[in-house]
Amino acid sequence: MFLWGTATASYQIEGAVAEDGRGASIWDTFAHEPGRVRGGDTGDVACDHYHRWEEDVELMSGLGVNSYRFSIAWPRVQPDGKGAINQAGLDFYDRLTDALRERDIVPAATLFHWDLPQPLEDEGGWLNRDTAYRFAEYAAAVADRLADRIPMWITLNEPFVHMVFGYALGAHAPGRTLVLDALPAAHHQLLGHGLAVRELRARGAEQVLITNNCTPVWPASADPADLAAADAYDILHNRLFNDPVLLGSYPDLSAYGVSLDCVRDGDLDLIGAPLDGIGINYYNPTRIAAPTGEGLPFEDAGVTGYPTTAFGWPVVPDGLRELLVGLRARYGDALPPVYVTENGCSQPDEPAPDGTVDDQARIDFLDGHIEAVERARAEGVDVRGYYVWSLLDNFEWAEGYSQRFGLVHVDFPTGKRTPKASYEWLRRRISQG
Ligand code: NOJ
Repeated sequence: MFLWGTATASYQIEGAVAEDGRGASIWDTFAHEPGRVRGGDTGDVACDHYHRWEEDVELMSGLGVNSYRFSIAWPRVQPDGKGAINQAGLDFYDRLTDALRERDIVPAATLFHWDLPQPLEDEGGWLNRDTAYRFAEYAAAVADRLADRIPMWITLNEPFVHMVFGYALGAHAPGRTLVLDALPAAHHQLLGHGLAVRELRARGAEQVLITNNCTPVWPASADPADLAAADAYDILHNRLFNDPVLLGSYPDLSAYGVSLDCVRDGDLDLIGAPLDGIGINYYNPTRIAAPTGEGLPFEDAGVTGYPTTAFGWPVVPDGLRELLVGLRARYGDALPPVYVTENGCSQPDEPAPDGTVDDQARIDFLDGHIEAVERARAEGVDVRGYYVWSLLDNFEWAEGYSQRFGLVHVDFPTGKRTPKASYEWLRRRISQG
């Protein structure tokens, strides 16, 4: 069965940050620091999904999706990031899981979508190897409660983005600006993934995946310097996270003049343990040129000549086909079934006077990208699912509520949900199979 779904993440939709024993996450801290998030927005209320989840499950049911990818907030389950388990936090996901199953919607749970418990950040966050062991402990507690009813597990969401924005550049929580010294945050997340896979399997999880953010990398020209820069960027963005999980080895980082000294014997055996699938999040390709100054061995040359989303991201549907076919070419039989766990666009959607939200640009975006998935399948890539980011307009990290990705419009002051034209379009598209 091909999985058609929508995707969300806990901090971006739930709100209720102080309810039922939830602890603080790094995003609570970060969003409340002046100047971090556009407009001073926070996830304190967000879409209030914690209280409106039944309405949101109804929206999914009406859309006709057969899967829903959501994330579990670690600080709800383990407020201190270690030790005592808060059953009241797990109760929320328990109720959600049962409601989804009653409507034949396969729950796909992500264990870490960037909301690290703050007490763990106080001990170094993902720069600290111990966080990987704490993650495995948390994964075990969640699986103890839910592995009998959630068939699909995603350990981490986009460890590349969390490392780069959170630890290298500081645009996301925890706001650190370590540039290449952020690399241990990549390895420790991946180690956490490997350790969590073992815990999930021990508890009978049917399917275990990781979700990586991937981008086709286009050299700015055929000049050897641009080609080398594009290769260096591909290593950092794509291969640093795909190679260890699919091949059990790290790519050569010598273009960066660094090595991963934090890797210990046995780590790669854990990280490279077989998976049942790989989640791929695709938004756009990246065009890379040789660096003009000191520092990193590449420079972003910008993709031009395509329409753009409200974020300014280029809309290149065929980039998704190119990416999927490229993964198959690179990894061959080591590539497990692929699930596009996120794809979507932000648009400046507001209801018209008659209350409707006409988001034709999103319809065109989805139509083009779904076709690209079909072309990749025709070219032999085993793609088994496609999840739209996102069900609801939500808290778009450093951009706050200014970027609307939803199939359903959210009026944030009231929480009112209004399905957009793309919701109806996708409903019909899914019903065609
Ligand atoms: C990927 C992230 O997983 C998600 O949290 C984010 O909102 C979307 N990209 C859009 O930027």
